[in-house]
Amino acid sequence: MPVSKLLDAVQGCTFDDFLFRPQESIVERRDPAVIDLTSRFSTRLTLRRPIVSANMDTVTRAPMAIVQAEEGGLGIIDRGFRAGDIEPQVREVEKVKRTQHGVVRTPYAVTPETRLDEAVALMQRSRVGTLVVIDDAGRLQGLLTDRDVRFVTALDAPVRSRMTPVASLVVGAGEIPLAEAERLMVARKVKKLPLVDRDGALLGLVTARDLEKHKQQPFATRDAHGRLSVGAAIGATGDYLERATALVAAGVDVLVIDIAHGHSAVMARALEAVRARVGDIDLVAGNVATGDGVRFLVERGANAVKVGIGPGGGCTTRLTTSFGVPQLQALVECRLAAGLEDGVPLIADGGVKRHGAIFEALMFGGDTVMLGSAFAGTEETPGDIVQKAVLLPEGQRTVQVPFKVLRGMASLEAIRDRLDVEDDATVDLEALGAEGTEVSVPARGSVRPLIHDMLKHLCSSISYGGGASLADVRARFWQDPFRYLVRLSAAGGRESYER
Ligand code: XMP
Repeated sequence: MPVSKLLDAVQGCTFDDFLFRPQESIVERRDPAVIDLTSRFSTRLTLRRPIVSANMDTVTRAPMAIVQAEEGGLGIIDRGFRAGDIEPQVREVEKVKRTQHGVVRTPYAVTPETRLDEAVALMQRSRVGTLVVIDDAGRLQGLLTDRDVRFVTALDAPVRSRMTPVASLVVGAGEIPLAEAERLMVARKVKKLPLVDRDGALLGLVTARDLEKHKQQPFATRDAHGRLSVGAAIGATGDYLERATALVAAGVDVLVIDIAHGHSAVMARALEAVRARVGDIDLVAGNVATGDGVRFLVERGANAVKVGIGPGGGCTTRLTTSFGVPQLQALVECRLAAGLEDGVPLIADGGVKRHGAIFEALMFGGDTVMLGSAFAGTEETPGDIVQKAVLLPEGQRTVQVPFKVLRGMASLEAIRDRLDVEDDATVDLEALGAEGTEVSVPARGSVRPLIHDMLKHLCSSISYGGGASLADVRARFWQDPFRYLVRLSAAGGRESYER
C-alpha cells in the first residue's frame, strides 16, 4: 500500500528533500482565475485560495487580514497585545469586518427632525455621503444625500425639508438576495437600496460600492453578510476566555487557540472551556506535529489543526529544546491521523521559504498553508520602517536601505512587549523560555502582487502535476505518491534549491 510507505519515505524530511516528477499536463492555462484552488480551512470555512497569514505581531493586523481575505485567503490577527488588553485585538477584527458589506446592517442614520447642520456634520465625520432617515420606531422615512444639502444655506431646517421621502425611493422588500438587489438597482438606476420589512422598518442598506467590490473580488473570503472573513488567535491561559467572548461579539469568523505545544493538558482544558464559552464557532487548535497530537485535538472538538513544531522562520524551538518534527514528516503523519478524505482540515504552519514549498505543504498534508516570514517586510505588515546602513561589497560604500522587523512570537522582544516590561532586570526574561528570534527584513511593496505570484506558481505546480485543480492534483498524489516523489541527494538538492 503506497500510502503507508509514504510515511517511511518522509522520515526526517522537509521541503528541500524532495522534487515532484513532472506529469502530463491537462490544463490549458496556468491561470488562478481559471484553475480551482479551493481548499478547506476548517470544518465550516472554505477558502478559494489556500493561503493564510500567520498570527504574528509583525505579520497580521487589519491591513494584512483585509488583503488576505480580499485575495481569497485568510488573516489571523495575533494576540500579541499585552495581557488583559483585549480591546486592541477586537478593534483589528472590527476594522476587517467594516471594510466591505453585503448589506450594511446599521447604516448611519438621522431622524426627519434632525437639523440639517447636524446631518452635514455626521456626513463629514463618517465620510458617508448618504444618510438613511428613520423615525423613532426605526421605520424608513427617506434618504438624505450630500447633494440634497449642497448650496443649502438654511441649515437650521429639519432633514425632512430636504430628504427624498420614502414614497419616492426604490426600496427592497425584506431580506432579498444580493443578486436581486443588484438587478433592482441596475433596473431603477439607483446607487443605494434600503431594505425594509412589511411594517416599513429598516433592515439594512445595500450600496453600489459594496456590490462593485463583490464583482471585482470574486474569490474573496466573505461571511454570510458579505463582510470579509477574519480569524483571531487566543491563548490557553490568562485572559483567553474574555478575549474569545469579545472577539466573537466583534464578529470574528474563527478562533485559533495557539500555543507552542498543543498536545497538552493546558490545551485540553482550554478547548473545553472555550467551546463552553463561545458555542458553535469554528475552533482551530495547535500547534502539533504528530498523529497523536492531531487525534488528541480532534477528539476534543477542534475544527482544524495547525501543524508545525519549529519549522518557522522566527523559531528557535528546535535549537533550544531539541524537540520538533521535520515539517514534511509531520504533515504526512498528521494527514494520516486526520483522515485522507473529509478529515479534519490541517493548516501547514511554518517553514515555507520559497513558493514551490507552498505546493509541497499542500500536497503532503496541508489543506491550507500558513505563512509568516514569507510576508515579512511588506507594506501591510505592522511596524515602522527603519533605515539601516548596508555595506555594498563593491567599493566599500554604504547605502541606506529601508527595513522592517520580523520576530518570532516567542522571541524575547515579543514576550517583553506583551508583558509590558520596562526594565528587563525586573523579570528574568530568559527564564520565560524564549523560543524565537527577531530579524530585520528589507521593506518591500504591497503583499498583493506577492500573493498573486504565489498563486500563479501554485497553478504552474498543478499543471506540472497533471491535475485540473488543487483538489484533483492532491487526490492524484495520494493515490500513488511514488509516481510523484523524487528524493534528492545532497547534490540534487544543491542543483535544485541553491541559487
Ligand atoms: P514562517 O516560516 O512562515 O513560520 O515564518 C510562521 C510560524 O512560525 C511559528 N512561530 C514561532 N515558533 N517560536 C516558535 O517556535 C516563535 O517565536 C515563533 N513565532 C512564530 C508560528 O507557528 C508561525 O505561524
